Amino acid sequence: SEAELIHVFKGIPFTTRSSPELLKSLDTFDAREDDVLLVSYPKSGTHWLAGVITKLYNTQVTVTSPIEFGDISRLDELNKLSSKRIIPTHLDYNMLPPNFKNKKCKMIYISRNPKDTAVSMYHYYRDNPNLPTVDTWTAFFDLFLKGDVVCGSWFDHFLSWEEHENDKNILFLFYEDMKKDLPKIVNEISLFLGLNISDNDIQDICKKSSFSQMKSDTEKENSDPSHTVCALTSNRKLIFRKGAVGDWKNHFTPKQNRRFEEIFNEKMKLSKM
Ligand code: A3P
Repeated sequence: SEAELIHVFKGIPFTTRSSPELLKSLDTFDAREDDVLLVSYPKSGTHWLAGVITKLYNTQVTVTSPIEFGDISRLDELNKLSSKRIIPTHLDYNMLPPNFKNKKCKMIYISRNPKDTAVSMYHYYRDNPNLPTVDTWTAFFDLFLKGDVVCGSWFDHFLSWEEHENDKNILFLFYEDMKKDLPKIVNEISLFLGLNISDNDIQDICKKSSFSQMKSDTEKENSDPSHTVCALTSNRKLIFRKGAVGDWKNHFTPKQNRRFEEIFNEKMKLSKM
C-alpha cells in the first residue's frame, strides 16, 4: 500500500527505503574534504552526470547510492569506503548534512526543465513497483504540482539550492546545456573538479556518455539497486527512457501548460530561472 512505500520526514515524502533513523542521523554524517556531491531533484540527469564524472577521473573513485537511501548502517558503510567518494543526493539544501557545508565539499547541482522532469518522473512512477501507483498523467501532473511526490516540490528543491548559486564550492548545471554542448559542460566540470583533461579525452568522454552508449553499457553492469545511483530500481529501461528535451509537449494539454506556467511564475518570482 502507499503507506508502506512512502513516509514523510520534515514535510518531504521519502520512500520507506530511506529509513527515518537514517534521515535523522544525517546531521551527524562525517564528510571528507574531497567528497564530491552530485545533487539533483529526481529525473534531472543524475545518471548522466555521474557517468561523465566517473570517466573524468583516472584514479579510483566510487559513486555511491544516494546518501539518504538505506537504513542506519549506511553511514558506517560510507565511512568505511577507502576510495574517493562521489555521493549522489536528492536532499534539498536545508536537509544536507552540515558537515558537507562546513568542509566546503564540492557539489554539482544539475537541474532540468521541470516540465520534462515531471514527464520523466511520471514514467518512472508508472513502471516502478517501489513507488505508489499512478493511474494517469493527469493524476500525476496534479501530484507533481502539489509537491506530493518523492523528494517533495521541484520548486522548493530548486529554490533551496539556487539561494547558494554564488557559493564557490557549488557548480550549477542544466540538463539542456549538456544536450546542447556536452564538450563545453564536460570541460566546465573538469575545471571545477581541478582535473586536467585534454581535448581528446573530453571528446572521448562525450562519446562514451551519449544516451545510446550509456544505455547499452549499463545493461551489462551490476544491476543491484543498492549499488546504483538510482536506488529504487534495477530496471535500466526506467532510467534510460528517452533522453530528450521537450518530451513534455507530448504529454501536457494546453490547459495543463497554462496552469503549470501560472504556478511556475508565482513560485519562481524571485528566481533568476
Ligand atoms: P527521460 O525519462 O526523459 O528519458 P536521473 O538520472 O536523474 O534519474 O534522470 C533520468 C533522465 O535522464 C531520463 O530522462 C534519462 O533518459 C535521461 N538520461 C540519462 N542518461 C542520459 C544521457 N546520456 N543523455 C541524455 N539523457 C540521459
